[in-house]
Amino acid sequence: ADNRRESLMIVSGFAAKYFQEAMWDTPEGKSIGLSYFKERGFTSETIKKFELGYSPDNWEAFTSDAINKGYQSEFLVESGLSVKRDNGTLYDRYRGRVMFPIHGFTGRVIAFGGRTLKTDKNVPKYVNSPESEIYHKSNVLYGLFFAKKAIRDQDNCYLVEGYADVLSVHQAGIENVVASSGTSLTVEQIRLIGRFTKNITILYDGDAAGIKASLRGLDLILEEGLNVKVVSFPDGDDPDSYVRKVGSTAFKTHIEQNKKDFILYKTEILLKEAGKDPIQRANVIREIVESIAKIPDSIKASVFIRECSHQLQIDERILLTELNKMKLTKS
Ligand code: UTP
Ligand code: MN
Ligand code: MN
Ligand code: MN
Ligand code: MN
Repeated sequence: ADNRRESLMIVSGFAAKYFQEAMWDTPEGKSIGLSYFKERGFTSETIKKFELGYSPDNWEAFTSDAINKGYQSEFLVESGLSVKRDNGTLYDRYRGRVMFPIHGFTGRVIAFGGRTLKTDKNVPKYVNSPESEIYHKSNVLYGLFFAKKAIRDQDNCYLVEGYADVLSVHQAGIENVVASSGTSLTVEQIRLIGRFTKNITILYDGDAAGIKASLRGLDLILEEGLNVKVVSFPDGDDPDSYVRKVGSTAFKTHIEQNKKDFILYKTEILLKEAGKDPIQRANVIREIVESIAKIPDSIKASVFIRECSHQLQIDERILLTELNKMKLTKS
């Protein structure tokens, strides 16, 4: 099994090199792939550091090169780099896409995300590697290998949604950033961050999906005993588009000025949804206390209860009674 894992890593490493050469050293790669990244504002330094590449717009350019160089079709298929047709022949999974290699904990490539350059809505924006013996996507955070030192130094981890967000935020000088990459945040991912820091700051997209995902993520982070803050972005922006719009200095200022602890963030969002209806507003309070009930450390929980009571102008004792009721029904 270890041999199989090693073979999968070797073929993934080869593919990362292949996609890089296809981007830097061919006319198609330069004019399509490299210029796409440059137009998005990524510097050569960022592009090289994250080993970004380009897959030629061809059904078998990669696969036939790999086979010629002696890579076994078994591992090409298992890694998802090649796909098997009914007649047994192989074709390239990634064609005419810009390539984001996903690095494992030790910096080796274990998977890929490939972004289309087409604007056609019927084409999936990103194609990602399937699960394999070396890639369990629920256990992986994009960018962690490049972020872990900064996460430890800063004692905080910024969590974003996408590949481009990691690259742009990193390039802006904030290197303690990782992405959950499309999947909703998992317990395994939170524990991975927890090895380096107990503080997570969520920077999700400023759209309805991003807000929903941030609320879900927040509860999960609290349950794992980590601290969580949230920064919102204007609707229609994500960290990547926002940093490009305002520049890195204003981006950092935005983070500092809009960083909210989870109660304030959740309260603001839920109260806006609830409007003036008193029953709905009562439900908001219950939902906030529900989040607080997830915090394993009861001293920490009581501090948040106090804050909640100030913010919502509710007697602390009432909130504590609610909290204890919830804890009872939970255990
Ligand atoms: P977004 O739709 O926010 O894309 O999805 P993005 O990262 O901002 O992409 P750009 O800026 O248009 O290039 C966030 C993340 O969800 C995953 C990817 O990891 C993406 O970065 N995703 C999204 C997929 O896996 N597949 C998709 O079709 C779309
Ligand atoms: Mn798995
Ligand atoms: Mn989005
Ligand atoms: Mn984006
Ligand atoms: Mn986005």
